[in-house]
Amino acid sequence: MALQKTLYEFLGISNRGNSNKFFKNEFVFTNNFIPDHLIGRKKEIDAIAKYLKNVENTNKHMLIFGKTGTGKTVVVRWVMNNFGDGNIIYKDKEKIIYKIGDKKGIVIYLSCRQYPTRYRVVNKIAQIISESDKKTQNWSKEIERIRAYSKLLDFMIIILDEIDYVDDKDNLLISTFSRWGEIEENTICSLVLISNKIHFLQELERRAFSSFQCLQLPFYPYNAEELQQILEHRAKLGIKDGVLDDEVIPYISAIVSRESGDARQGIGILKLAVEIAGIEDADKVVKRHVDIAKSYGNLSVLFGETITSLPYHERNTLKAIALLYLENNNMITTGDVYKKYKELVGAAVTQRRIADYISDLTMLDIISAKEVSRGRYGRTRIIDLKYPPEMILEILKDEI
Ligand SMILES: Nc1ncnc2c1ncn2[C@@H]1O[C@H](COP(=O)(O)OP(=O)(O)O)[C@@H](O)[C@H]1O
Ligand SMILES: [Mg+2]
Repeated sequence: MALQKTLYEFLGISNRGNSNKFFKNEFVFTNNFIPDHLIGRKKEIDAIAKYLKNVENTNKHMLIFGKTGTGKTVVVRWVMNNFGDGNIIYKDKEKIIYKIGDKKGIVIYLSCRQYPTRYRVVNKIAQIISESDKKTQNWSKEIERIRAYSKLLDFMIIILDEIDYVDDKDNLLISTFSRWGEIEENTICSLVLISNKIHFLQELERRAFSSFQCLQLPFYPYNAEELQQILEHRAKLGIKDGVLDDEVIPYISAIVSRESGDARQGIGILKLAVEIAGIEDADKVVKRHVDIAKSYGNLSVLFGETITSLPYHERNTLKAIALLYLENNNMITTGDVYKKYKELVGAAVTQRRIADYISDLTMLDIISAKEVSRGRYGRTRIIDLKYPPEMILEILKDEI
């Protein structure tokens, strides 16, 4: 298969084995997995749980901030999963409806990466609170819907994860909810904003929004010891016994703590090192596999910056090409890309435009396109990827 060849050539390893042979549960390496216990975040867990409980005090909002991979998302989701205070009326991963004393309220969680415009955020909040999939396509109507439901409640806590993804330059989103009580006097509305930016508050001020009164909860990068515990826990759940050389986890933890303290990076390197050892048909995962995984990771970060900053159509064109590779198609023509693109985006573009996007990607050296003659059918371009399609799809996974 074209894809496999590309990836292995890229990693400089020979393909003899099976990338999955060392795993017992790959799910634990994904972002959707929430461990039953978290390492080194007791203080943060307690602060968030207390916040959800002390609804009388929640006229102050909360800001959770810290670099990526410091556990912000997993801690909040863990607290929601394990929330047992008060009288719980309903609970799922998007919301908890509960009573504290005689006050009834709701906690709503949403990740703005999935809802990157203000309209989509309020629409999603309205959908969650009203339990209906309706879309009005209108900001004010969505706010009215939320108001109608919030009147039935004493408090409403809205957790907006990855708030940095929302385009809210004039602060309409944040100000609407942070000043909810000015209109809806009987409902306390609290925002919990989660940001990867260390200077989020300063940025709000720069955007002329300085009235955001909040409790601040910083998340700091993990040190080597914490990373080691996180990785050991994950390895126990996801990797078969006796597969990892003893040096592997301390080695990854040392590299990652020096570089970023990002648990996601550590987990990613561990998983890839195990896959590479599987592909090589090695007996064990050793430091060398970690080194290969690390250099692949470095490249993927650099390359990721290039391709996530491509315009929308070029990103989709590239995604179409990567998908064609995965479908075992090793003679990809402009016509194939055109068909796949339409399937993906559903938009009316011409084949001519797709050919332009392909030229742009060629110029950036992400793909190559070789003109070949097809006899009486004229000339066509055969497209080849210069990077592994898995890497491309992984980078574009949340982007399009
Ligand atoms: N304290 C922890 N204990 C166990 N796993 C953790 C911990 N912190 C982070 N992780 C894991 O690291 C990855 C990144 O964490 P995440 O919460 O998504 O970071 P952030 O939201 O700060 O970018 C996830 O897979 C998560 O499960
Ligand atoms: Mg997060």
